[in-house]
Amino acid sequence: MMDWTDRHCRYFHRLLSRHALLYTEMVTTGALIHGDVARHLRFNAEEHPVALQLGGSEAADLAHCARLGETWGYDEINLNCGCPSERVQRGAFGACLMNEPKLVADGVKAMVDVVGIPVTVKHRIGIDKRESYEYVRDFVGIVSEGGCRQFIVHARNAWLQGLSPKENREVPPLRYELVHRLKHEFPQLQICINGGFTELDAVMQQLRLLDGVMIGREAYHNPWWMRDWDALVFNDPHPVPSRDEVESRMVDYMERELAEHQTPWHSIARHMLGLRNGLPGARRWRQVWSDHRLKSRAPREVMAIARESWPLEAREPA
Ligand SMILES: Cc1cc2nc3c(=O)[nH]c(=O)nc-3n(C[C@H](O)[C@H](O)[C@H](O)COP(=O)(O)O)c2cc1C
Repeated sequence: MMDWTDRHCRYFHRLLSRHALLYTEMVTTGALIHGDVARHLRFNAEEHPVALQLGGSEAADLAHCARLGETWGYDEINLNCGCPSERVQRGAFGACLMNEPKLVADGVKAMVDVVGIPVTVKHRIGIDKRESYEYVRDFVGIVSEGGCRQFIVHARNAWLQGLSPKENREVPPLRYELVHRLKHEFPQLQICINGGFTELDAVMQQLRLLDGVMIGREAYHNPWWMRDWDALVFNDPHPVPSRDEVESRMVDYMERELAEHQTPWHSIARHMLGLRNGLPGARRWRQVWSDHRLKSRAPREVMAIARESWPLEAREPA
């Protein structure tokens, strides 16, 4: 998710689930071809498994960038065919690619030909007024001929005129049944669903029918939810760290990042502000970790201040 799931965010999320597949923000082929590759692709070894999401439409560019992604150690390359932003539309990629399944299939094929890791596609169920099942079915059918074996379907249309990207995640209705029909029609493909999941029960229900569930906003805003996933979704009942341990390990990471890359702690802390959501004192704790007047203090000192402000009754047992 743009501006959200950078490597710091992914490092944090990995402390909460060892198994969930994490995705980068969308990186455009233009940014990789003309920009600072290390800035866009560098990630922490602890983040695996991690997928690089690309935005682009030219087969040769996609192949070049997929190769780069594999060389940098990513576990999967994902092509964005779901983003409705105007900037992306001007570049003629993202959701508007749903109108050009043959072009997407060519791009997928070009990537599959040059990498050994899976190439997957994230898309919508339609764009604008194209709302029929047949539209998304044909898209998936044609793109699969390019060699894509896994589709992550954001189960709502993208309306390219008149809605902001934020509205495009809220206004067009969710239609999960179309995703289920896709799985029924293409049992040999891995079909994953995305859009609107906030409860584990609903996720488990989908996992009985489909191959995966992608979670966006809820994982970001309520990251503590992720700590249940390894045991309940991935069947790995290892001991999970407490919130205090997670916070301490994030401080270790902030110190490492500061020393190695001069990353200020607040660029990292912003992703963990939801860690104590729902607990008494969470607001005060969040305020300390987002207090820019503390910018020049060491992250360990900021943690001490945050913990001092933390009501005794909310503290976890040691
Ligand atoms: C701030 C933000 C940035 C996003 N950036 C991307 C992106 O770069 N690539 C992408 O495929 N989806 C992006 N999305 C969409 C999410 O991946 C997801 O499809 C959408 O939020 C619906 O899932 P959810 O209801 O679980 O959040 C973004 C969403 C948000 C809120």
